[in-house]
This record gives sequence, C-alpha cells and structure tokens, in this order.
Amino acid sequence: MCFWCFWALIEPRVLATIDTFPAYRKLLPLLPGVCAVPLTFEFSAWHFLAFSQMRVCVCLCTDVCAQEQPELFLKKLQQCCAVFDFMDTLSDLKMKEYKRSTLNELVDYVTVSRGYLTEQAYPEVVKMVSYNIFRTLPPSDSNEFDPEEDEPTLEASWPHLQLVYEFFIRFLESQEFQPSIAKKYIDQKFVLQLLELFDSEDPRERDYLKTVLHRIYGKFLGLRAFIRKQINNIFLRFVYETEHFNGVAELLEILGSIINGFALPLKAEHKQFLVKVLIPLHTVRSLSLFHAQLAYCIVQFLEKDPALTEPVIRGLLKFWPKTCSQKEVMFLGELEEILDVIEPTQFVKIQDPLFKQISKCVSSPHFQVAERALYYWNNEYIMSLIEENSNVILPIMFASLYRISKEHWNPAIVALVYNVLKAFMEMNSTLFDELTSTYKSDRQREKKKEKEREELWKRLEDLELKRSLQSDGIIPT
Ligand SMILES: *[C@@H]1O[C@H](CO)[C@@H](O)[C@H](O)[C@H]1NC(C)=O
Repeated sequence: MCFWCFWALIEPRVLATIDTFPAYRKLLPLLPGVCAVPLTFEFSAWHFLAFSQMRVCVCLCTDVCAQEQPELFLKKLQQCCAVFDFMDTLSDLKMKEYKRSTLNELVDYVTVSRGYLTEQAYPEVVKMVSYNIFRTLPPSDSNEFDPEEDEPTLEASWPHLQLVYEFFIRFLESQEFQPSIAKKYIDQKFVLQLLELFDSEDPRERDYLKTVLHRIYGKFLGLRAFIRKQINNIFLRFVYETEHFNGVAELLEILGSIINGFALPLKAEHKQFLVKVLIPLHTVRSLSLFHAQLAYCIVQFLEKDPALTEPVIRGLLKFWPKTCSQKEVMFLGELEEILDVIEPTQFVKIQDPLFKQISKCVSSPHFQVAERALYYWNNEYIMSLIEENSNVILPIMFASLYRISKEHWNPAIVALVYNVLKAFMEMNSTLFDELTSTYKSDRQREKKKEKEREELWKRLEDLELKRSLQSDGIIPT
C-alpha cells in the first residue's frame, strides 16, 4: 500500500484525535493532504471529518494504487450522502464546494474507471442517490402554480442534484453495471419514490428523471409491469382527482418508446390503458402542455394495432371540446395524425360520425377551428380516402359547406370552402348536382315554412288586436 492510500485510511482517526484535542490543530497544516487548503474550524466535527477526508481522496484519485480505488470510491459515496441546505445561500459554502468537486470526481470515475463496481458499491450508490434526490419537493413560489402562465420554481440544490443525477445515469449506463445485483437495491419502493419526483416543477430535473426511468425500465425486466401500473395510477389520479402533476409530458414521452416496443398481439392490459387512461387524458384542462406527447402515444398504438382505430376515434369524438376552441384545434391536429396512418378498412367504419364532427368544425364561427378542419383537404392521403368514399362523405359535408360559402364572415374561410366544393364537384359531378338541387329545394321548403309561420303570427296578432278592441267596446260585437 502506498503512502497516500495509507493516509486516506488512517486520516479520519488522526483528525478525530485533533478534534478531541484542539491544541493539535496547529499541527494540521503539516499533515499531508490537508495542508493545501486552509481550514476554518467552525464546521461541526462530522462535516470536518467527512470533507477533509474527501479532499485527501481528491488528491489520491489520480495516483492511488489501483487496488485501493474501490474502497475510496465507497468512501466518497458515503461522504456525498451529506445533504446541504441550499435555501440558506451563505451556509457551509466551503463544504458545498467540496461536495460539488467530489461529485464531479465520482462522475468521472464512473465514466472512466474499470473494475470499481464491486458488489459492495451497489448499496452505497443507491443510498447516496436516494439521500440526495428523494426529498419533499419544495413548495411552489406561486400560490396556484399554473404551468401555462407561471415561471417554474427552480430547484435550489441543483448544483449538487444535477451531478447526482449525472452520476446515477452513468452508473446505470456503465458497461460493468449488473442489473442482477442492482435489483436488490433498485426495487419497487425506489421506483415509486422516483415517480413521485416527476412532479418537480423544475424542468431540468424532470428531464434527468426521464432518462433515469427509461434506463431502469430498459434494464430491470422485473420492474416493467410495476412501472407501467404506477404510471397508470399517476395518470388516473391526475385526470379524476387533482388535475395537477408536472411530469405528465415526460412520462408520456417514456411511454411513447415503451409502446413502440410492445409485442404483438397487444395484451388486454395495454389496450385498456389506451382506452381507459390515454383517451380520458384529453379531457384535462392543461392538455396543451402534453398534447404532442399524448398524440404520439396514440399514434404508436394505432400503428401497432390498426383495429384500435375505431375505439380511439369514437373516444375522441366523445370527449370533443364543446367550448374551448384552442383545444378543438389540438383535437383536429391529432385527428389528422391518426388519419395519416389509418387503414382504408378502418376509415370506412368510422367515417360517418367522424365527418359529422368535421362538418361541425368547418362551420365553426371561430375561424381557426374552421381553418384547421379545412386544411384536411390539403392532405393527399385524406383526400384519397374522401374520394373513395365520396358517396358517404359528400352528403354529410355538403350542406355546411354550401351555407358557409354564402354566409361566413371570414373571406379566407370562404376561399378555402370554395376549393373544397370545387374538389367535391370534380369527384362526382352527378352527386354534386343532386346535392345542390336537394339543398336548394330544402332551403326553399324552409323559406316557405318560415313565410307561413310569419303569416300565421300576423293573423294571430290581428285576431288579438280585434278582440281587445271589441272588449273595449270600440268595435261593436
Ligand atoms: C356519383 O354519384 C352517383 C349518385 O350518388 C352514383 O350513382 C355514382 O356511382 C357516383 N359515381 C362515381 C364515379 O362514384
């Protein structure tokens, strides 16, 4: 054993002695490893020990004998279990800095070194990570945090936390990493606590968590079903109870790649998740924050199993937003993504209710909704589907389009509608003419009815007037 390793091992005892006999402190600058940095003694004995030792380890790292490295690695992990209060920006500045540099060193270590991952290291790694990341999330700066409006509360301890996450990810990704040993420590309880952290307001933290959870899902086959079930629970609580959880987009992003890997035929559990969880997620007020990821998951499902198209579209139609035009535009966007991958046989099953809804959207007085729906006619694949089924779709759409072409307030919409009508006419002019004349005769019948109704009212009024005059004795009975 070289001198430095020897020193690293005995140093705690030397320093403990010094701590007990303050008179010896004068000797400190003479000791190897300690001399480089002037120390103040306001630190608690514990911290003092931990971090002076850490510094010794720092100088050891590069030239220490190889066989001592695993032990030093363990020691550093233990030292980094000390958690500091970052809300108090002035406290423990030096020790915070020591910890930061030690964490940095651990990150390098786990990336470069070989043979450090002894079996004893696993519980220490998980312990260090747990001590640092598992915590009560800080209360939000804003009273009612609205992710669409407010700035998120950033994590104060990020300088340490980031390195801990960085270290953990490299640990999980290391070539030496053995899930069979790690699964004793990375268990269901660990995953549960990890998932709770996804509620962090700090997007940087959620981004790291996403990678961590993804790696764990990839490496621990025994945890997969559990992770899916817990995400399921988080979403259900989000939809039906709280409407508040900051990490929905990140969890959906992970799910997107999980769904991608599902084996065929899909298990009933997965289909249930789609229908009972993903579709109802569309009802949440803050949909815009995670809609892109949600739509991606849905499309992944449909590409896996086209037979799910009908229940999915029916689900969307059921939850179609009635009052929020911004959401309606999002629904139309998602529907177009679905139509992009739809199989013609599936399209036929759903075209009737689907185009009834699209027809309503086209006639929406909100021009962005109308415009988004009319853009479907720029999509070649959708156009080909419409053309194949023009005998069903034209009659559904015709009346709204014709009326809009005469009445809509927005000239851009009217121009788009003219294009659609022109396309319809080219598809089947016989049908188009039929529909036009039906529409016109319908309108005439309507007008006639209206006129009759008006006349009836007029006659009633005359009658009323006459009677009241009679009762006043102006007209003799
Ligand atoms: C056009 O519409 C008419 C009337 O609905 C129908 O009988 C005919 O088959 C259609 N033609 C084409 C080419 O689809």
